[in-house]
Amino acid sequence: MCGIVGHIGPKDSVEIVLEGLSRLEYRGYDSAGVSFIDENDSLQIYKKSGKLENLKGLLKDKDYKARMCIGHTRWATHGEVNDVNSHPHMKDHISIVHNGIIENASSLRKELAAEGYDFKSETDSEVFLALITRELAAGKEFKQAMLDSFKLVEGHSAFVVLNENVLEIMSIKKGAPLVCGINTVDSEAFVSSDPYALAGMASQLYFPADNVLCHLSAKNKNLINFYDSEGNPTDDFMSKKQDMSVGPTDKGQFEHFMLKEIHEQPELIRSLTQFYFHGEGLESLKKAGEFVPSKFHISACGTAYYAGLLVRDFLEMYNKIPCSPELASEFRYRNPLLQKGESGLFISQSGETADTLAAQELCTNSELKTLSIVNVDGSTLFRNCDNNLLIRAGIEIGVASTKAFTQQALTGRLLSLALTKELNDEASRVKLTAKFSLLAEKIDHLISRSEEIKVIAESIHNHKGFFYTGRGVYFPVALEGALKLKEIAYVHAEGYAAGELKHGPIAMIDEDMVNVALVGPELFEKTVSNIQEIKARKGVILSIGPKDNEELAELSDYYFGIDFDGLDELSPIYINIVNQLLAYYIAKYKGTDIDKPRNLAKSVTVE
Ligand code: G6P
Repeated sequence: MCGIVGHIGPKDSVEIVLEGLSRLEYRGYDSAGVSFIDENDSLQIYKKSGKLENLKGLLKDKDYKARMCIGHTRWATHGEVNDVNSHPHMKDHISIVHNGIIENASSLRKELAAEGYDFKSETDSEVFLALITRELAAGKEFKQAMLDSFKLVEGHSAFVVLNENVLEIMSIKKGAPLVCGINTVDSEAFVSSDPYALAGMASQLYFPADNVLCHLSAKNKNLINFYDSEGNPTDDFMSKKQDMSVGPTDKGQFEHFMLKEIHEQPELIRSLTQFYFHGEGLESLKKAGEFVPSKFHISACGTAYYAGLLVRDFLEMYNKIPCSPELASEFRYRNPLLQKGESGLFISQSGETADTLAAQELCTNSELKTLSIVNVDGSTLFRNCDNNLLIRAGIEIGVASTKAFTQQALTGRLLSLALTKELNDEASRVKLTAKFSLLAEKIDHLISRSEEIKVIAESIHNHKGFFYTGRGVYFPVALEGALKLKEIAYVHAEGYAAGELKHGPIAMIDEDMVNVALVGPELFEKTVSNIQEIKARKGVILSIGPKDNEELAELSDYYFGIDFDGLDELSPIYINIVNQLLAYYIAKYKGTDIDKPRNLAKSVTVE
């Protein structure tokens, strides 16, 4: 959610922190702020609500030379979006940034206010500042003040604190992402909520365990020292060479990242099969298939959950392994029945989604083997699972997930193959490679027809609501199509099982309601009957279904025919590309901020 970056070193710390924040801005963009130590060793703070650009504007004409800085992009939890609630928060030469939620903030706030602390903001984060300054005022050293304050806060959080008095940065976390890094050549130390912010800057990364205090100081021989909750040196962190590159993070010829990412899909599909079937990924795929569980508990959030529904279809269809897909936020609190021999399967783009991580922890604690289908190598989910399959989607910047969904679903199909003996058979791999290539080719063709989808979007973008319907394997993509539209176009959209509409929602159908009917070759007649029911109630029909189908064309107000031939089980992934483009163009006609839709964040690290 919130992005955090901190830096100590001889280079311009503010510039480095701003660069890191700009890489994380897509995760939260309610406000941005930095605080730094200037050339007179004095703490400066600049923060502004709105996007990072606003903060950069504020800093533009300032003449500063900073050698340590912490920065933050906010996704608001406590307190509205304004300058005061923006991070960093500062008092008594101490400034802090925070990602997470302090669950006992309100009781601590009352206690601290009663002691005379004058809160400036409505945030839970300022409570930690109040605790630290109280401990320091009581005469404790910085390290002890951090440890003692952290023991008092409940919930999942990461804090980074800059102390002007000692010219040091300390950070600590529990259940929230945090990574430190160093660049020994230039004597720099970094801290961030995301290793991506440090790509190309830090050469060595350290992922501290919960409750480990990270102490960044130019005076440290190692630049960073780590301490346990008693203040003793510890090596309770995972160390790793930084192998992430910044990669192309510009939009290139595209107006939005989302459109660029939609266009990247065919190439990504090709490289996914190349990697897993004919390249270095084959061994990891084989390893993922070694353990055949009696059941998969599939857990994920948002788009990743819908990909999980497709993965369920693959695993049940090809492997006859029962699957129980569930939203991670529900799974974690439901006391699910978890039995020996079963496996937890977690799907995530970021690998940092709080609920998905909690679901994984629950499975581990119940002694289930855990496997992830994940995009970010080295993410918390990746580190916590027994085994991982990377979806290799590259960085996804658009908040509305597109290419990650496609790669997640396809990686699920690869897993289903890995769980059979067929994976060892070169001929089977070649056959599936051909099918994936066909999918890539057909998606290329679909994309070349974007103009047709745009024309449809123009005609329907002002309708009051949208029902996406599908049956069987198309139901998950009906859910995903509706989610895409809600996320970026802010129109009410629902995904529904086509056969279920008549059990209530059909009451909402009128001439201002659009039915986006996802019609595959399977269950064709039954799906068409459901469209008839909507048509009879004057609903506007946009059908996306088999090409050159007169019946569909006649029945529909708008008909987009596509060629499913040879795709079989991959058909829902294919039809979903139309959903992606449709949502994109409707949002464009609506004039919304497509890459940074209101109220959303790319990485949801609070529950
Ligand atoms: C947010 C994002 C979605 C994503 C979901 C799960 O809601 O906007 O695009 O599907 O989180 O995130 P994950 O990183 O676990 O896939």
